[in-house]
Amino acid sequence: MSTSSRTIHDAHTVIKSCSTTDPKEKAKIYNIWAENYEEDHKLLSYRGAYLAVDFLSEHFCGRPEESLVLDVACGSGMVANLMTELGFRSFVGVDGSKGMLELAAKTGLYQDLKLALLGTEPLPAQTGVFDVVITAGAFYPGSVPVNVIRELCKAAKPGGLVCIARGNYRRPIHIEYTENLQKEQQLMEEEGLWGLKGTKQIDRYIRNPDVECGGDGEDIQEDQFISGTVYLYKKSISASTSTQ
Ligand SMILES: C[S@@+](CC[C@H](N)C(=O)[O-])C[C@H]1O[C@@H](n2cnc3c(N)ncnc32)[C@H](O)[C@@H]1O
Repeated sequence: MSTSSRTIHDAHTVIKSCSTTDPKEKAKIYNIWAENYEEDHKLLSYRGAYLAVDFLSEHFCGRPEESLVLDVACGSGMVANLMTELGFRSFVGVDGSKGMLELAAKTGLYQDLKLALLGTEPLPAQTGVFDVVITAGAFYPGSVPVNVIRELCKAAKPGGLVCIARGNYRRPIHIEYTENLQKEQQLMEEEGLWGLKGTKQIDRYIRNPDVECGGDGEDIQEDQFISGTVYLYKKSISASTSTQ
């Protein structure tokens, strides 16, 4: 059970420990963090899930109540919670942390939840059936490897949307990862697998764990945040699901 005694310093300490590049180690951290995950993310002013859902809603033209959503690295279920407010009803969630999946299960929103450490294990999702594939806060070094982006596209149905939200962390390892991710996204466009519907840059994605913060009541300066990017792709109607 989460307590209300957490501070921004506690949240920064855990998020800094998440900089490990060992995915198994990271899953262990999330298992322990699960208890305080949502409270700490409020303290960190995390907006990734909200920004992903908000950008998706600007572009989604289908019937939410008839749409099947794959929430990749679903964590505690923030994305599904927000999408429910828009009328979405059917969610499948995947995450590499058992502790986080237990929180997602408690929301009662997911018809199916799967444990899988992506990059090490294949994405446990049916090919070509999801109207929306969405992921927030997980495409980072040591978390979900760049090439898993192809598996997300593969899971979407032809004409389905793939939405990716992530923070623009400034450490060199993150900058290199972002370049590789963007190259892969571009390559997939050139291969005719999907087309870009839009990107959105956001100033305040999450508080910057690398900038020392003052007390919880202190005014927050702009450099105490990292920016974020949301990408939205539409899977090509003609993309073959068997050759990706
Ligand atoms: C910052 S949380 C984001 C959770 C949720 N999408 C949200 O916006 O609140 C990152 C999540 O990614 C999961 N994750 C990290 N690496 C993963 C991997 N390789 N495979 C599956 N899940 C992973 C973690 O367990 C954690 O739940």
